[in-house]
Amino acid sequence: MRNILRHNSTAYSSAMVVGNKRLSPVYSFLELELLQDFPLHKPPQFIMVWVPGYEAVPMTIAGRRGDRLWILVKIAGDTTRRLAGIEEGSFIGLYGPLGKPLIPPGNRFLFLVGGSGVATALNYISSLGCSQDKCLTVFGCWKYSEIGSVPELIEEFGSATITACLDRRCNVYGTVVDALNNIDPGEYDAVIACGPPGMLKSLIDKIPLDKSIFVLDSYVKCGIGLCGSCLVPGTRYYLCIDGPGFYARELVEAGWH
Ligand SMILES: Cc1cc2nc3c(=O)[nH]c(=O)nc-3n(C[C@H](O)[C@H](O)[C@H](O)COP(=O)(O)OP(=O)(O)OC[C@H]3O[C@@H](n4cnc5c(N)ncnc54)[C@H](O)[C@@H]3O)c2cc1C
Ligand code: FES
Repeated sequence: MRNILRHNSTAYSSAMVVGNKRLSPVYSFLELELLQDFPLHKPPQFIMVWVPGYEAVPMTIAGRRGDRLWILVKIAGDTTRRLAGIEEGSFIGLYGPLGKPLIPPGNRFLFLVGGSGVATALNYISSLGCSQDKCLTVFGCWKYSEIGSVPELIEEFGSATITACLDRRCNVYGTVVDALNNIDPGEYDAVIACGPPGMLKSLIDKIPLDKSIFVLDSYVKCGIGLCGSCLVPGTRYYLCIDGPGFYARELVEAGWH
């Protein structure tokens, strides 16, 4: 039987926003000061972030040093809009870390990233000891204007970066998948893809499934395996306790659609 409550308590810990850097019209990078003990995490684990007056939303831990924790927010609706614009000195609630750690072996990594998946890539980049000669991140957006200084942040964390969008100003004109026309995923020890389901599915016949990790997104409500809202389509996996990262081969064989 699954041990559904193996992941720490669901009591919220307090944190104070001590930095909020707007990276582009849709991305903000927040630094939080943890005001209470908070368990350590490993990628691609996430937390629930409760924003007073709004909802609790799942957010990946982009990084942590001591009592400082970073999250990267992409505006999707009311709660993420509030979070992206939150003032320094505001208090929020956190619980977690949730989900399972999934660390690939090796030292050369390719990250294929779209949307809020950037946060997951950042956490892997720092945890896996990346440097710009060993790790490459392809960051895709629909619009050039969304990109802002996200590539600089990825480089600061330790990965070389290529942008892909439907604008000639990006390094690649097209999607993250199109960028693979000029990159050999087989040269890397692991491929880690984080982005919308359509993007991940288009990668299935383009990357080595046995050494690729897909980090999924879903509707997370309870975060501890109780409500069923995060069931991964076609499988018996709950994203919040079995994921959010899965080896791509395992997902495909489990019937993911
Ligand atoms: C494990 C996990 C980790 C995540 N990490 C991050 C992160 O690090 N940074 C980040 O910015 N976002 C992250 N997300 C997505 C984020 O949680 C949603 O964008 C957020 O819950 C939307 O809340 P909202 O109230 O702002 O928008 P809502 O008003 O609830 O929704 C606005 C739009 O977003 C869609 N949406 C709502 N919830 C989700 C969801 N869970 N996933 C995808 N789309 C959703 C809705 O269909 C709607 O179209 C993560 C999601 C999961 C499951
Ligand atoms: S979010 Fe409730 S079971 Fe996963």
